Amino acid sequence: MNHFDTRSGVLHAEGVDLEQLAASVGTPVYVYSAATLERHYQVFAAAVAGLGDGNPLVAFAAKANPNLSVLATLARCGAGADVVSAGELARALAAGVPANRIVFSGVGKQVFELQAGIDAGILQFNVESEAEIEMLAAVAASAGKQVDIAVRVNPGVDAKTHAKISTGGDDNKFGIPIARAEAAFAQAAAHASLNPVGIAAHIGSQLSDLDPLEETFGRLGALMGRLRGLGHIIERVDLGGGLGVPYRADLPAPPLPEVYGAMVARATKRWDVRLIFEPGRLIAGNAGVLLSRVILLKQGVAKTFVVVDAAMNDLLRPSMYGAWHDIAAVRPTGEQMTATVVGPVCESGDTFADDRDMPRVTGGDLIAFLTAGAYGATMASTYNSRDLVPEVMVSGDRWAVVSARRVAADMMALDTRAPWLET
Ligand code: LLP
Repeated sequence: MNHFDTRSGVLHAEGVDLEQLAASVGTPVYVYSAATLERHYQVFAAAVAGLGDGNPLVAFAAKANPNLSVLATLARCGAGADVVSAGELARALAAGVPANRIVFSGVGKQVFELQAGIDAGILQFNVESEAEIEMLAAVAASAGKQVDIAVRVNPGVDAKTHAKISTGGDDNKFGIPIARAEAAFAQAAAHASLNPVGIAAHIGSQLSDLDPLEETFGRLGALMGRLRGLGHIIERVDLGGGLGVPYRADLPAPPLPEVYGAMVARATKRWDVRLIFEPGRLIAGNAGVLLSRVILLKQGVAKTFVVVDAAMNDLLRPSMYGAWHDIAAVRPTGEQMTATVVGPVCESGDTFADDRDMPRVTGGDLIAFLTAGAYGATMASTYNSRDLVPEVMVSGDRWAVVSARRVAADMMALDTRAPWLET
């Protein structure tokens, strides 16, 4: 459920009229609904409440939407954060996420990032290689600290999602192959600066089938038993994120959080650990839209092109993954058309929808790409020297620009002329 509805003929985000918002801020612009973020967090937290030792941690995957106001909204609900870079760590801390609710994942953490996590006093590092264990042990030792780690394993399970967002197969770069987990644990336990307290897995994103997750959790349970048999104390298991969201109103939705929660309850019965979850898309996906204005319509040989002012640089998912985003007219007429929706960027891949049956629009109209709150603005670029898309957050009748549009002058200010090119 989300808080984007048509009221009095105009699409609203909560109490805010998106036509008026677009007139004030300009387009393209991302619009987030705070009430939707809160609701999604609460629904997920309720679905996993009481599991494991009864004190699960829901650590929002900051990569899905690291905007400070998004992180602060979730932090106020009690969310932690899963971060994968010093930048995300800085954002989570600045947004008010307590350090003891932050887990640090990622295959290529650098020394300065490990240092930043140690300095902040985060809950744990999810280590993804034997080499990282050595790096972290050395950094922690020189800081005179002992740090908690979970060994992220690669369970060798096919997540049955898009290849570019599958992370738990044998050919993926993530985690330590599960067959080497015991050795990795022993390696970590040999360092006084490391305290191996748990295991972790994340097999992919936008999952619509719970079976691969249940299979993974079964393998984690078996591994936990083996590790305990070897004398290790396993206090936490991080089950990752990955639960999919509905992108298409005309297709069945992925399993609901309560169904996921029931599966986790089954799979983790008697584990006696603190469970950690890292949902990203599930919290933020349907809490955001990308508003865009139609520039013009153009007839090709066989296609009708709707050229809009948003482009692949603003919302990369359709061109990168062939992803589908439903398209709504901000002032729907009830009429439909078949059109190919494209942006102004000079690439044929700059296509949001191909021969889509969609609301009829014409030059000057506003449209919204739905389910754009996760992996939207954060993956934006300034390709073709386009402005960096701004972000707005709505709460009830209030709204605020929570990330400013960066225009050509802002970006040129960061370039310099090489001295030999000064006249
Ligand atoms: N934990 C880890 C270690 C992850 O790598 C990810 C996502 C998550 C949690 C959150 O997964 P979620 O709950 O959001 O599915 N840009 C792609 C998605 C990449 C996901 C990368 N990792 C997209 O737009 O579909």
